[in-house]
Amino acid sequence: MLSTILKESTKEAHLRLEKKVVQKMKAIRSDADYADFLKYFYVYFKSVEGAIAPYITSNLLPDHAERRNSQYLKQDIEALGGNIHELPRSVAPEINHTLQALGALYVMEGSIMGGSIIVKMLEKSGITKGLTFFSGYGESTGQMWDKFVGILNAQAQGPDDEAQVVDAANATFANFAEVFGEMVSA
Ligand code: HEM
Repeated sequence: MLSTILKESTKEAHLRLEKKVVQKMKAIRSDADYADFLKYFYVYFKSVEGAIAPYITSNLLPDHAERRNSQYLKQDIEALGGNIHELPRSVAPEINHTLQALGALYVMEGSIMGGSIIVKMLEKSGITKGLTFFSGYGESTGQMWDKFVGILNAQAQGPDDEAQVVDAANATFANFAEVFGEMVSA
């Protein structure tokens, strides 16, 4: 199944991104630091949303409007006293059709799965505000994921289609890792 192939084929890209995210999180000492951290997510999610918008229609994904988006990030940044005036540089992956758009959306929707771990890490650093983005769909997270995966799996008609989705997902992970810049050695 496509979702199984995707998980397996993007494992390394996920790990590389996760390492960068964790490294940035370790430096968070205040609400202002956390707001700056959220800007990386905001700028990237917003650019990917723009790239996939022409292909993720309400026909394809009927609950798209109810899904988490970069507006959550903007609200979280503002709840922390920050703003979105100065943002890091970000490049969206190239998206030219529905299969690529679904690969990118897999990465964005899947990021909710690690959200509860991120919230716990932030709470340990004393962060109590601006957590709506990482809280995802709360108790509905599993259900929302299953719905998305069902639609995803129904779209790919064979190995060529699957490869297009996998390549786009890997590019979506890799471009996000670029936004965070070079790893700083400890
Ligand atoms: C501190 C950072 C992160 C941690 C600790 C983390 C951890 C996790 C965990 C525990 C899962 C669930 C695995 C499972 O239940 O099978 C997961 C899944 C996933 N994460 Fe992350 N994650 C992090 C960041 C991210 C980011 C930034 C993204 C993308 C923007 C991302 C994308 C995904 C995707 C797409 C999946 C779904 C994999 C699948 O089941 O197909 N993660 N992550």
